[in-house]
Amino acid sequence: MTAPPLLELAQVGRRLGGRWVLRGLDLSLRAGERVALLGESGSGKSTLLNLVAGLDAPDEGRIRFDGQILPAGNADASAALRRDALGFVFQAFHLIAHLTLAQNVAVPLLLQGCPRADALARADALLARVGLGGRGAGLPRELSGGEQQRVALARALVHRPRLVLADEPTGNLDPATAARALRLIEDEIAASGAALLMVTHSTQAAGFCDRRLTLHDGILRPG
Ligand SMILES: Nc1ncnc2c1ncn2[C@@H]1O[C@H](COP(=O)(O)OP(=O)(O)O)[C@@H](O)[C@H]1O
Ligand SMILES: [Mg+2]
Repeated sequence: MTAPPLLELAQVGRRLGGRWVLRGLDLSLRAGERVALLGESGSGKSTLLNLVAGLDAPDEGRIRFDGQILPAGNADASAALRRDALGFVFQAFHLIAHLTLAQNVAVPLLLQGCPRADALARADALLARVGLGGRGAGLPRELSGGEQQRVALARALVHRPRLVLADEPTGNLDPATAARALRLIEDEIAASGAALLMVTHSTQAAGFCDRRLTLHDGILRPG
């Protein structure tokens, strides 16, 4: 028997602002697979990622993670799934301003009940891997955009998620910083073996993915 896909969306629909942004959308992602998600602004890419992350619920269709239906409208169960299995890199980083960098990175582990000292030690190790070793006691406001992006990436990976969702992770960065960030994502994903679903307009980023899918008229097509 073959393993079920890690992530499977079947005939998913989401209606927003009086229109179907997504409709009849199918997607299947295997463990460790890397998929670039392309599409014009407003085509529904963030909507799709938010559905997968359980931050929003579909109006139609089903989302399965590891063969289990992602609970819609069940905040606790979907929060638990997000906490354990997903890492999310937002376009605007969303670091917590009053927490140190190490505390920010440690959040997913602390939410899982990992002992505080262990969580902070692992956060420091991850910060070192993203080139911010010894900076754990600093605050987000002391960092450049590129540095904040690396902290956000460390936070998305610290709990070894099986699926990393990245929503235009280089959207706020200059080309050189964006290129470094993408290399970092590529390296970290390869090292952790996580699957990746990444919204990006960068051909470079799309290049290290196994597949490219374009969102148009509510559904995904190859290419
Ligand atoms: N909460 C909302 N209420 C109404 N319309 C929304 C909402 N969120 C997104 N939309 C609309 O859904 C469409 C897709 O948005 P989005 O998923 O953010 O696109 P993308 O990320 O591809 O740029 C857009 O037309 C947007 O205006
Ligand atoms: Mg978007």
